[in-house]
Amino acid sequence: MITNSMTNKIFEIINGHTFHLHNQRISYVLTIMENGQLGHLYYGKSLGALSVADIAYLKTQNSKSAGTVKYSPDTGNFTLADRAQEYPVYGSSDFRRGAIDVSCNQEPWYLDFKFADYSITSDKPRNLETPESYAIGNEEATQLNMRLVDDQHQLELTEHFTIFDNQSVVVRSTTVKNCTNKPVNIENMMSAVLELPDDKFQMINLSGAWLKERHVKFHNLEQGTVAVESLKGASGHQHNPFIALVRSQDLNQGEVYASNLVYSGNFISQVEVNEWHKTRLMSGLNPTYFGWKLDVNESFKTPEAVMYYSDHGINGLMDVAAGFTKKHVIDRRWRQRDRPIVFNNWEATYYDFDEQKLLKLARQAKRIGMECFVVDDGWFGQRNTDRSSLGDWRVDPRKFPNGIAAFSKKIHAMGLQMGLWFEPEMVSPDTSLYQEHPDWVVRHPYKCVSIGRGQYVLDFANPEVVESVYQQIKPVILAAELDYMKWDMNRNITEAYSPYLTRHNIPQTEFFHRYAQGVNRLYQLILTDFPDMLIEGCAGGGGRFDLGTLFYCPQIWPSDDSDAVERLSILTGTALAYPLSSFSNHVSAAPNDQVGRQTSLDFRQMVADFGPLGYELDISKLPLDELEQIKENIAFYRRHRQLFVNGRFRQLQSIDPQSNEVTWSVENTDKTEFFVGFYRKLATPNSGVLNYVKLPMVDPNLTYQIDGQEKVSGAVLQHLGLRQPYQFNGANRDTAELYGDFQAHLFHIVSVE
Ligand code: GLA
Repeated sequence: MITNSMTNKIFEIINGHTFHLHNQRISYVLTIMENGQLGHLYYGKSLGALSVADIAYLKTQNSKSAGTVKYSPDTGNFTLADRAQEYPVYGSSDFRRGAIDVSCNQEPWYLDFKFADYSITSDKPRNLETPESYAIGNEEATQLNMRLVDDQHQLELTEHFTIFDNQSVVVRSTTVKNCTNKPVNIENMMSAVLELPDDKFQMINLSGAWLKERHVKFHNLEQGTVAVESLKGASGHQHNPFIALVRSQDLNQGEVYASNLVYSGNFISQVEVNEWHKTRLMSGLNPTYFGWKLDVNESFKTPEAVMYYSDHGINGLMDVAAGFTKKHVIDRRWRQRDRPIVFNNWEATYYDFDEQKLLKLARQAKRIGMECFVVDDGWFGQRNTDRSSLGDWRVDPRKFPNGIAAFSKKIHAMGLQMGLWFEPEMVSPDTSLYQEHPDWVVRHPYKCVSIGRGQYVLDFANPEVVESVYQQIKPVILAAELDYMKWDMNRNITEAYSPYLTRHNIPQTEFFHRYAQGVNRLYQLILTDFPDMLIEGCAGGGGRFDLGTLFYCPQIWPSDDSDAVERLSILTGTALAYPLSSFSNHVSAAPNDQVGRQTSLDFRQMVADFGPLGYELDISKLPLDELEQIKENIAFYRRHRQLFVNGRFRQLQSIDPQSNEVTWSVENTDKTEFFVGFYRKLATPNSGVLNYVKLPMVDPNLTYQIDGQEKVSGAVLQHLGLRQPYQFNGANRDTAELYGDFQAHLFHIVSVE
């Protein structure tokens, strides 16, 4: 047994063929099978040091053959169909979908990667070129790189497995290298596979549409495949790359396996159950409309997949996913920095504004405590509607007669930060950018060209286009001394085709991935020059909420639906996979612009409090009492901002988007302070005056004070629960605290002596 101990992450090789990666929380065990390929033995709760006998025991579960087709007459009397594998291939005795498909001269290759050697690395720096998880110093991560070789085809495959100090996470990616003397084509290459020994799970995925993104959906697993995917060039409003497998819907107990991709583009995440109730989870680049030509000696590396594990149910998963994302995906500096309280003019003015109107709003915003003034769409070119001027990133002199620098100086002089909206990947037909460079647009030479929101997508697979967009944007960032940028993306890709790729003899099947790389390149250019600028991601609201975007943008506008009731469902889904600090909330007008719903300012504020806060309504027209209320709300939020943004988030009742009541909380690390948000969507007749919500997270040995009033022990809050506001039952109008639809209460619970 070789043991290599790096702080708390341990890597062991047992009997020369079995590899065990583990830290304080999890173990991951893989083995070299009889045929030389990589088999999977275990992922789950930490097993501690493993003995040779343990390994023999683990291996038996992976050595019984049920299938009839054997691996190979001369090398193995077993079938791959029922072996848990690390990176299975189709075409052997395993008939399920494989993780990699390669062809050469139109001939499919049946691949057979056998173990060659391994290496251990511990440096994983944050590199702006590619969104990937990172570690600081050599103590935070250990990466096992297993090199496998297919001798016959002369392809080399390296499987990367990374574990992190104190994280219930394994990050995987794969590199393939062409060692032949001719080009080959990758037709499919997944980031990760996770084989599980049974199918006693439900699958959760996050799906929806524009204005209702990332609702929690449950699927029962059956023999067959369930997949979520995108072919839109972005992760999309409809599906998210995150999927989870839960043993039960219990919020606090039971095993959960989940996966996500550090990627923003076409993806597939799927779960396949076979005839023997074994589950295979795979996730990676969507193989549809994908192909990559690998020239001699070239390598291709997949995006990373993050495989989460929790044995504390859905809340455990949320904690693992949020903690990992804040520490190892998002730029860590944003954990300490206060997220500015934003005023955004979009729903306040839409395109109808000028400098004077904005300055009036800015003065008001400053007076009531806001911190960053964001000029949304419409400040450039001749942009008075959404049909014009994208790609002409020069300030509109009719709206800003003194230029953007002068305007921004006034904003800064008020003590506000300055933010601007861009949609860098797009171009409107009425711009000189479009007219001078018609071949810079994503467009097939066919006559039929789809146009969305009156705009075209720029060909970000062409590095010259990316560079040119940056050369336009950079002087604006400099002139306005921007503190904040909103990066929007309001249409998806159709008739995907890059004239640049054809000119350079690069297959069009590489387009979508190269486009994603072009987007990364622009982020890299911007953040290299302006590392302290806060970029907020956005794609027609939540059309690109993923780890690939969070690598560059510490927060994302999660939906164009700012209705607080809808946001309950969107935040519930999003928080399964992403930290609260990434979910930007704005208090908007009532009735709400997207659904026409009337809710109270209190209700809207109590929803928006959880995460980075902003306001997006015409504050120049609000009644004085509402303005004073907002001022107080902001002062309150500022006092507790760290907890609202970075506290541990939990669900206390249900994650079902149909649920009429939502109760969630944030807590500090030493469990001395909590906020519990309680929301009831619709009034229900005589549903009981008194109801309780158990608080599993409080310390039973402490005494807590609720809203500065009642004092009660943690044990009571844990076992009886927190008393919800008194409900109206038809007869208690005088004492009822919950009356009518859309009611909320924010409990502040603090430990006292
Ligand atoms: C998208 C965004 C909105 C707003 C508009 C402006 O829809 O999601 O927040 O910026 O574009 O056109």
